[in-house]
Amino acid sequence: MDLTHVEGDLDIDQTLYTEEQILARLREMAAEIEVDYEGKDILLVGVLKGAVMVMADLARSLDRHVEMDWMAVSSYGSGTKSSGVVRILKDLDTDLTGRHVLIVEDIIDTGLTLSWLITNLKSRGPASVEIATLLRKPDALQMDVDVRYVGFDIPNAFVVGYGLDYAEKYRNLRDVAILSPHVYTD
Ligand code: PRP
Repeated sequence: MDLTHVEGDLDIDQTLYTEEQILARLREMAAEIEVDYEGKDILLVGVLKGAVMVMADLARSLDRHVEMDWMAVSSYGSGTKSSGVVRILKDLDTDLTGRHVLIVEDIIDTGLTLSWLITNLKSRGPASVEIATLLRKPDALQMDVDVRYVGFDIPNAFVVGYGLDYAEKYRNLRDVAILSPHVYTD
């Protein structure tokens, strides 16, 4: 099945990054992480659901032991996805005391989710908290979030694929692509 076509229409405007480009960039980020965290244990914290693909490929690009844990969060209320008020749907299993936490994200859009998450995780007594994200939208940022590892800065468009969804679809598209406006305006 061609995931770029649903019900016969072309739903993808433009491929932003191919799977190969994504994997190459994640390998570069992993090399930086290996140097920065030499001699330290890393706990990778993936934010469900979008970060699943990034976590899988970034973790496997790291030539060292890492632990992985997951959180699921959601903005309060409906229709205001990026309200900045977040509730925890699934918390970590891991005690963060003294841990070097590296949050793994697919995308930073307004930055509101990450801003809240960093404050939350820092309150649990970790040794450090940093962020690695595959994508960031500089033009959409509402909060100044200090992101240590960024894969690509992208335009302020609706992107899907490689974990990113529209109405829970397209997460399994291998590339990152811009969704055609007709999909969400029709
Ligand atoms: C996405 C993404 C981040 C958040 C970023 O998750 O994974 O967690 O939005 O947005 P922000 O910078 O504007 O706060 P989403 O809420 O779409 O959930 P999902 O990962 O389950 O798709």
